[in-house]
Formats: sequence, structure tokens, C-alpha cells
Amino acid sequence: MSRYTIFGTGNMATAIAGVLTAGGATVEHINSDQTSGATISGDTVVLAVPYPAVSGILTAYATQLANKTIVDITNPLNFETFDSLVVPDGSSAAAQIQQTLPGARVLKAFNTNFASTLTSGKVGENPTTVLVAGDDADAKSALIRDITAGQLRAIDAGSLKRAHELEAVGFLQLTLAASEKISWTGGFTVNN
Ligand SMILES: NC(=O)c1ccc[n+]([C@@H]2O[C@H](COP(=O)([O-])OP(=O)(O)OC[C@H]3O[C@@H](n4cnc5c(N)ncnc54)[C@H](OP(=O)(O)O)[C@@H]3O)[C@@H](O)[C@H]2O)c1
Repeated sequence: MSRYTIFGTGNMATAIAGVLTAGGATVEHINSDQTSGATISGDTVVLAVPYPAVSGILTAYATQLANKTIVDITNPLNFETFDSLVVPDGSSAAAQIQQTLPGARVLKAFNTNFASTLTSGKVGENPTTVLVAGDDADAKSALIRDITAGQLRAIDAGSLKRAHELEAVGFLQLTLAASEKISWTGGFTVNN
């Protein structure tokens, strides 16, 4: 059975936990009060926190995270301007995490899915599909298997380099929803 530790207890943490537990995985949460003392029991760690919180978690839990699968779901926007990402040009939040923890198996996933679409299984009238990018084939297929077991679709979106494109899609989707051109129950979808 897969064991997940999810940092955060907010909208995405709750929605992702719902998908994973529906598929038979066990899930524990670490909240923002547990600054560094918690034991990570999961083999896979989901960072369901705002991007600015990620670096503190990577520092505080560096030893425990060093060899884990880490799922980065963040959209690293500049929330003051809503007009750019805060990661270096051509890079991604996921690539930055991989650089910080070279022994970890970093995956990018869920950042193109609004939380409500993970819970409902629908993006408008279409089924919700989670796009998963990463360099470790085994880690990627394990996450895809667990998402699929939880009754959502999941697609291998390529290597960790594709996190750059996934973050661009997540950024654009957020600006469309924030400006009320699309709803928070909709968004981009793929058909296969
Ligand atoms: N909402 C969406 O539809 C959506 C879609 C795609 C991607 N995302 C991404 O998903 C991430 C989470 O978004 P969200 O909407 O779920 O936000 P949210 O509802 O505000 O939840 C954020 C969670 O992170 C926790 N947190 C903050 N710092 C922490 C720390 N150091 N250790 C442990 N937990 C910490 C918060 O705890 P406290 O409440 O105690 O501060 C809260 O539980 C963001 O990076 C966002 O860009 C969101």
C-alpha cells in the first residue's frame, strides 16, 4: 500500500488526500505548526503549501526528504503583480526543488487542476486529468497508478523539464479564473 505525507491541510491538501485515500493509499498531514519536529512516515511527500513556504520545509526536513518522492503542486506566482512567475526564466519550482534535494525523486503534478475538480472528478463536463512530470519513471508511474486508483485520469507529461510548461499552464489558468473569465470548477482539460 502506498503511504503519503502531505504538507498542508488546505484546499489542495484535502482534495489530493481524498483522491489518494479513495484509491487505497494511506495519508497523513503535517500542518504549519509542526515547524520541523514531525516524523515523515510517507514514502511520497506532497507539498500542498504556498510556494514561499517550500524552501523552509526543504531546509527543516532536508534529512528526511533526501531520498523521498516529492510531489510539487505549486504555482509559483508573483501574487503581488499576478503578472509573472517567481522562478528563474526557463526553470520551474519543481526544478528548483530537485536542485536543492538532488537525491529526491521530484515530480510535478496537480498544479493544472483546481482543487474542486479533483474532488468532483470533472472539469466542466469533462473528466479531470492530472498531468505528471518527472525524471524517475518508477516514481511517476506509482503516482499515476495511485491517482488512477482514486478514479481520476492521470497522464505522464514527460520529464521534469516539462514542469516549466505545466507551471506556465497553471499560471495562465489562475489568471483566467482570478479575472472571472473561467470558473474555479473549470479550467484546462485534455482528452485522450
Ligand atoms: N487551490 C487550487 O485550486 C490550486 C490549484 C493548483 C495548485 N495549487 C497550489 O497548491 C498549493 C496549496 O494551495 P491551496 O489552495 O491548497 O492553499 P490553502 O488552502 O491556503 O492551503 C495552504 C496550506 O499550506 C499550509 N502551510 C503553509 N505553510 C506551511 C508549512 N511550513 N508547513 C506545513 N503546512 C504549511 C497552510 O497552513 P496554515 O493554514 O496553518 O497556514 C494550509 O494548510 C499552492 O502552492 C497553490 O499554488 C492550488
